[in-house]
Amino acid sequence: MKHNLACVAFAATLPLVRAAGFNIVQNWQGTTFFDNNWSYYGSWDNLTLGDVNFVTQAVATAEPELTYVNAAGNAIVRVDNISTVAQPNKRNTVRISSVETYGLGSLWVMDALHLPYGCSVWPAFWSQATKWPEGAEIDTMEQINMASSNQMALHTQDGCMASSSANMTGTVTDPDCGTDLPTKTQGCTVTEPNTASYGAAFAAGGGGVYATLLVESGTYIWFFPRGSIPSDLDISNPNTFPNPDNWPTPSAAYLSSTCPTSMFLEPQHIIIDITLCGAWAGVPQTLDATCPGVPANAPSSYCYTTYVAGDGSNYAQAYFEIQYVRVWSNATTSSGSTGGNGTNSTTGGTAGSGTGGGNGGSTGNNLPSSGSSGSTATSAATSAYAQNAIVAVLLGMFGVVAHFV
Ligand SMILES: *[C@@H]1O[C@H](CO)[C@@H](O)[C@H](O)[C@H]1NC(C)=O
Ligand SMILES: *[C@@H]1O[C@H](CO)[C@@H](O)[C@H](O)[C@H]1NC(C)=O
Ligand SMILES: *[C@@H]1O[C@H](CO)[C@@H](O)[C@H](O)[C@H]1NC(C)=O
Ligand SMILES: *[C@@H]1O[C@H](CO)[C@@H](O)[C@H](O)[C@H]1NC(C)=O
Ligand SMILES: *[C@@H]1O[C@H](CO)[C@@H](O)[C@H](O)[C@H]1NC(C)=O
Ligand SMILES: *[C@@H]1O[C@H](CO)[C@@H](O)[C@H](O)[C@H]1NC(C)=O
Ligand SMILES: *[C@@H]1O[C@H](CO)[C@@H](O)[C@H](O)[C@H]1NC(C)=O
Repeated sequence: MKHNLACVAFAATLPLVRAAGFNIVQNWQGTTFFDNNWSYYGSWDNLTLGDVNFVTQAVATAEPELTYVNAAGNAIVRVDNISTVAQPNKRNTVRISSVETYGLGSLWVMDALHLPYGCSVWPAFWSQATKWPEGAEIDTMEQINMASSNQMALHTQDGCMASSSANMTGTVTDPDCGTDLPTKTQGCTVTEPNTASYGAAFAAGGGGVYATLLVESGTYIWFFPRGSIPSDLDISNPNTFPNPDNWPTPSAAYLSSTCPTSMFLEPQHIIIDITLCGAWAGVPQTLDATCPGVPANAPSSYCYTTYVAGDGSNYAQAYFEIQYVRVWSNATTSSGSTGGNGTNSTTGGTAGSGTGGGNGGSTGNNLPSSGSSGSTATSAATSAYAQNAIVAVLLGMFGVVAHFV
């Protein structure tokens, strides 16, 4: 590795947040989930070369509905599993991006009951700066096909490294967060140890919560299964002033000692999307890792012709069911609950009046710390690709992946 940023050992706990915890600044929940502050992509997947159209809001809210709030009050984001797709057409799906960006001192959380999965399916709950890769990308939840555990990643400019000695439960599978194309494409990946973090097991366990904290000391990602969600994340109330200093060890920790957040990470747009096949999920050798029957000499079009084309029966599980997506900020004043009219969402969280959160007590997670050394295994087989990777580069890497442009 070019940049030998030795891990700096922190002797003591540094507070990640102000003592009173975070103020709610955006609550997407309930009947108005899709109404405010989301932008629908409205183009084919020219980012990761999936065989999909990311539809406009008008299309997503017409039959068959691809974004809607179900009878339980949860937001559904899904692949069209109703329509028959004739070759060489693409299948409709969704990519929504927050209009606003959220910078240092932000915490964003998704509570979901179901994540999209299935052969050829590639979902993500992630974020990126307006300028990419300059302002970086954070992949909070991203997986493909029938894989079992979530994979997290940062994609940054060159010089940002993940350190396997950071205190985290996940395993660093590539320490280099740089995005020097075409050689560096997968970012600094960390694998979540909990196999209920994705796929059928996630849904069977009642889903869970993904949280991303972007602060001066680093970028942190947690996965909490349904039974282990911190008490300061409450579905019925966004004004809980959550305080991650009191949470257990994160799944991934990208410390500023090896990747200064203020240098590499700019304010982030939060994104939810599902693509199909494309530059990661659709590569035959990658598909073969978790899906049955892929011939040894399968052409690059194999994923498309096998799964996407034809009826939609492959995509019954290709949907997010989301109880909320919320963003909190450590800014000293609160604008109260915005954008929300979900179950019991309240307004008005006034400045500094938080009663949740606590003071970073002795049960805290002691972040950041030097920790003990972990795995440094690098696995090319589990490569993720920058969601934004440039088409020309991918074409160069894989031959003509975009076979039906
Ligand atoms: C993808 O398509 C959109 C809409 O046509 C366009 O604005 C954007 O520049 C394209 N991006 C790439 C990487 O081709
Ligand atoms: C909010 O967090 C940022 C990043 O960690 C920090 O620079 C800032 O001082 C914090 N603000 C307050 C009011 O605590
Ligand atoms: C709404 O809040 C009230 C009072 O806190 C609580 O009793 C009720 O169970 C909540 N409803 C839901 C659906 O969460
Ligand atoms: C589409 O998926 C839903 C579940 O997400 C399922 O109930 C429905 O039967 C599927 N439709 C078709 C035509 O396969
Ligand atoms: C959209 O986001 C802005 C900035 O966070 C916020 O002030 C506004 O209330 C939001 N609008 C809605 C309708 O949620
Ligand atoms: C919130 O929901 C209530 C009850 O469904 C409705 O009367 C009200 O108009 C909604 N408010 C907003 C801002 O959507
Ligand atoms: C890592 O965090 C846990 C709490 O989540 C703490 O008990 C442990 O001491 C920390 N390890 C180090 C080396 O700081």
